[in-house]
Amino acid sequence: MLKFNYYGHACFQLDDGKYKVLFDPFLTGNPAATIKPDKVEADYILITHAHGDHCGDAYEILERTGATAVGIPEVTDFGGANVKAVGMNLGGTLKLLFGFVRMVPALHSAGVGGGTPCGYVVSIGGKIIYFAGDTCLFSDMKLIGERDKIDYAILPIGDHFTMGIEDAAKAVEFLGAKNVIPVHYNTWDVIKQDPEEFKKLVKNAAVHIVKPGESLEM
Ligand code: NI
Ligand code: MN
Repeated sequence: MLKFNYYGHACFQLDDGKYKVLFDPFLTGNPAATIKPDKVEADYILITHAHGDHCGDAYEILERTGATAVGIPEVTDFGGANVKAVGMNLGGTLKLLFGFVRMVPALHSAGVGGGTPCGYVVSIGGKIIYFAGDTCLFSDMKLIGERDKIDYAILPIGDHFTMGIEDAAKAVEFLGAKNVIPVHYNTWDVIKQDPEEFKKLVKNAAVHIVKPGESLEM
């Protein structure tokens, strides 16, 4: 059984019962965080870009857990330090112990020179999960949904730094996702959103509103 454990903002863990895959660890200084960086578990850490609200605690968790980081090379370059990292790039598919990770585009800034932001399509626990990272709406989301049948789309809805609720609802349509989990909202006032309003806008998909600290069986 696959579990989505939400730690607040864009940080969550997918747990297939054997492997724990952590996404965008930002816990220190995250007002929505529900776990401390010295407690969170990970076998892999997938990072979408180098903004602090996505990779702030990555290095510390990598060092402590011995987990392997996955990301754009410029983003996972921790200065030759003693942590495991697999650099990959857009369009690439990486086979890992739990399934696969396909790196897909995101339209945003990278947070580091020479880098680019990304999203991920992940096969784990018999499900296909798409995590958009930070992005605006873009029409190639249709291609992402054609390539893999998406069971769960995890999308930012906070607006200001990413798409807001109207565009995220359109993204669900483009992706053809069966289920949606909104993230990257209500961490600060600037990305304040009502997820119930998002729910009303989404057609033909189930919207799961998961609060920080809560889990969802996928
Ligand atoms: Ni960002
Ligand atoms: Mn962000």
